Parts: sequence; structure tokens; C-alpha cells
Amino acid sequence: MLKKFKVKTFGCQMNVYDSKKISDIFCSLGYKNTFVDKEADIYVINTCHIRNKSKHKLYSELGKIYKINKNRFKDNKNMITVVAGCVAQAEGEEIFRRAPFVDIIVGSQSYQRLPNLIKKVKKKNKQFIELDFDPKSKFDNLPKKKYINEVSSYLTIQEGCNKFCKFCVVPYTRGPEYSRPVEEIVREAEFLTKNGTKEIILLGQNVNAYHGIGFRNKEFNLGQLIYLLEKIKGLKRIRYMTAHPKDMHKDLYNAHGDLEKLMPFLHLPIQSGSNKILKAMNRNYTVDEYLKIINKIKKIRKDIVFSSDFIVGYPGESKKDFQKTLDLVDKVQYVQSFSFTYSPRPGTTAYNLKNNIDENEKKERLYILQNKLKFYQEKFNKNFVKKPLEVLFNNSSNTNRNQSVGYSQYMQLVRIKNKRDLQGRIENIKIKKSFYKSLEAISII
Ligand code: SAH
Ligand code: SF4
Ligand code: F3S
Repeated sequence: MLKKFKVKTFGCQMNVYDSKKISDIFCSLGYKNTFVDKEADIYVINTCHIRNKSKHKLYSELGKIYKINKNRFKDNKNMITVVAGCVAQAEGEEIFRRAPFVDIIVGSQSYQRLPNLIKKVKKKNKQFIELDFDPKSKFDNLPKKKYINEVSSYLTIQEGCNKFCKFCVVPYTRGPEYSRPVEEIVREAEFLTKNGTKEIILLGQNVNAYHGIGFRNKEFNLGQLIYLLEKIKGLKRIRYMTAHPKDMHKDLYNAHGDLEKLMPFLHLPIQSGSNKILKAMNRNYTVDEYLKIINKIKKIRKDIVFSSDFIVGYPGESKKDFQKTLDLVDKVQYVQSFSFTYSPRPGTTAYNLKNNIDENEKKERLYILQNKLKFYQEKFNKNFVKKPLEVLFNNSSNTNRNQSVGYSQYMQLVRIKNKRDLQGRIENIKIKKSFYKSLEAISII
């Protein structure tokens, strides 16, 4: 019987990309994917460390696996448990201490070694840990073949971060910035497109700081890379995330004006609308500079829309500072967003600051902010009722077999009823209803 594996993923898109690569590794070893926990011979948890809650998710998942394993020991059929990702990187051996049945701990840039580690666990019945930051070896040694074809694919072009925002664990969990060579990225993009991908989302924690080595040893920035990818036949859409305001550059602005495939939606996190707080966070830009970027890009691409991340309740955030965040939202009118209360993370500089805002106050501020963000998202979606919209259909997240789902150029989730066979197609459709987070269509035009 074929052996089975399961990968459970927490965290950002970069972890989603890594989990797909981990799946490719096991498929290449002859394992089969399963969604049923207790069927798995290998269970991988790919973890996130960004907020305190993220870590708890690992230990509650491990609790579940412990129970499955206890029953399995009776049948003498052990499950190999792997903890991968950012908690693995941050906590290391501590995970073995808290969960001694874990077999392997691998970091975000050492999971390419899993085939060998699995072999060693089976042979020696010992625990193994690999936490090197070795992004070059990671990308060199991952399987080139993809076992699951997708309409919309992530493509990690850059690892790590050198920015050290004071609240953030990423520079510690993902290591220093590393940009993949241009040729390697183009090859991966062409391969994806040949296998059915219509949309590529370029990923990096700081994706517009990309500076990879290209042809004739020339360095390429993100803008230049996108001009190259635009030429790939069969590829219809290009997006990138997460961009940092400090790293917007001329080629990237121009790309938004020149390139048809580059979508008019930009995730550009500001975190706070107060210069005092931005400075305390070490974000290295002011609100004015941020707004200048927004205005500049709007001149180049008139219909572009924006999304952002926000942190409320950062140490020292007064009611006035918070009000400035609300004012900024009124100015930009984001069409999507992610917002969080500040979560102190051990190891970061901000961890030692006095966390002086009461948790209830933080929650209250988050509630107020989210209501405002919701208002603009709803308002934006309402604009599309009775209007045509181009949608790339991608049914992978669809549970209702009697409809198709896809995304508009502006990243709105769109559903169309009674149409099942639109997978991979871009259609111009007429919108009937709008909701806070999605749109509903009647017909193809
Ligand atoms: N590289 C991206 C963000 C990556 S982390 C950027 O610089 O914008 C994703 C988001 O998680 C951040 O934008 C921030 O809003 C949130 N986040 C990160 N650390 C956090 C913390 N300690 N507490 C609360 N939210 C946090
Ligand atoms: Fe974290 Fe700042 Fe780097 Fe984003 S830019 S990953 S918030 S340190
Ligand atoms: Fe989380 Fe690591 Fe991503 S900490 S947000 S999974 S880079």
C-alpha cells in the first residue's frame, strides 16, 4: 500500500509555497497526499511565529497528533512527525522538550533535506534537527517537478528580511535577505505556465527589495524582473507581495503603467498612520512619504487599488496616534486589509518596551479600525453591481460543485452560479450582488 503524508500549514503565503514544495518532496518519494490525520504516515506541521497565538496553534496541533500516535503505538505503526517553518526556527530543541514524540525539526530553509532526514529517522529511530539558513541550497535542491497543477501559483523569489522592524520576528525566523537568480525564477515561471498556471504571485517578505543576479551578471530589481515575466506566453496575470514602502522603485512604477499582465492591486502595508509610531517601529518612512507613493502610482495606473496591514496598540500609541491611523484609512480607502493588535514577541527589540496599552483598549481600537476598513471594502465592492468585470476562474477553494469561483483584477472573490467548467478561464462577467468580502455574478458577457 502507498504510504501517505499530510502537511498542515499556518502563516503567510511564503509558508504556503514551502508547504507545496514539501508536498512535492513527498510525492517525488512515492508518498500520496491525504487530508485525514490518522491515515498519515508522515505528518508535517509548517508553523508561523508572527504573533503569540501562532505558536499555540503548533502545540494544540501536536496535542492532536500525540493522541493519534498513542493509539497507533498499540498497532506498532508509528507516524513520523515533522515540525517545519518559523516556530521550528525560533524554538528549536525546545519543541523536542515539550513534545518528545516529534521526530524531525526543520527550518524554512532546510526542509529540502527532508528525504535524507526521513531515511535516517526510519533507520536509527532518533530525533533530528536542521535549522541552517541556506536559501541557495534550498532552491537548488527542491524537486523541479510539480505534482499538483494550479491556475494561480505562488513563486517565492526572495527569502528573509534585513529590515528589522522592532515588533517583527521574520528577520530571525527567515534569516537575512536572499534574492534568487533571475534565470531560476524565469525557468520556474515558464514551467508553471506550461502546466496550467495563468497567474503568478511573486513572493518575498520584502519582495520589492528583490535584487537578483540576471543575465551577464547584471543585477535585476523587481520591476525589471516583472518586465521579463510579462513576455511568458500563456501567463495572463502577475502580482507581487509583500511590498515595503521604502523599496518602491522607478522600474516598478513604470511596470504598473506599461504592463498589461501586472494587476492593479497593491498590498502595501503601512502599519500605523502616526509618524511617531512608525519611527518607534523602525519602519523608515513617514505617512507623507507613503501617501506620495500612493498618489504617484495612481497617476501611472488610474484604477489601481490598495490593501494594507495594520498593528494597533503598539507601545506608546496614544489615542491621538490611533486617530491618525483612522484618518489615513479615510484618505487611502483600502479595498482589503489585515489588522492585528500588537503582540510582543520574545527576541525582538520591541519586546523589552513597556507594553503600556491595556488588552481591552487594544481590542476596542482594533474593533473601531476594522469597522472603518470594512466600510471602504463594502463600498468598493458595491461599485461593481450591474457592471462587467474580468475574472480568472480558479475552483481549487470551491466546495460548492454548482458554481465557479475566481478573482477579479482587484483581488475580489467572485462567484458565479450554475457554471462548473470555467477553471483556468478568464471571462468578462456581469455582477449581480456585492458583499463585504465577495461579489456574485449572473452571467458571462
Ligand atoms: N513584510 C511585511 C509584513 C510581514 S508580517 C511588511 O513589512 O509589511 C505580516 C504582518 O503581521 C505585518 O504586516 C504586521 O501587520 C503583522 N505583525 C508582525 N509582527 C507583529 C506583532 N508582533 N504583533 C502584531 N502584528 C504583527
Ligand atoms: Fe517584518 Fe519589517 Fe521585515 Fe516586514 S519589513 S518582514 S514587518 S521586519
Ligand atoms: Fe509567519 Fe514565518 Fe510567514 S513567522 S508570517 S510563516 S515568514
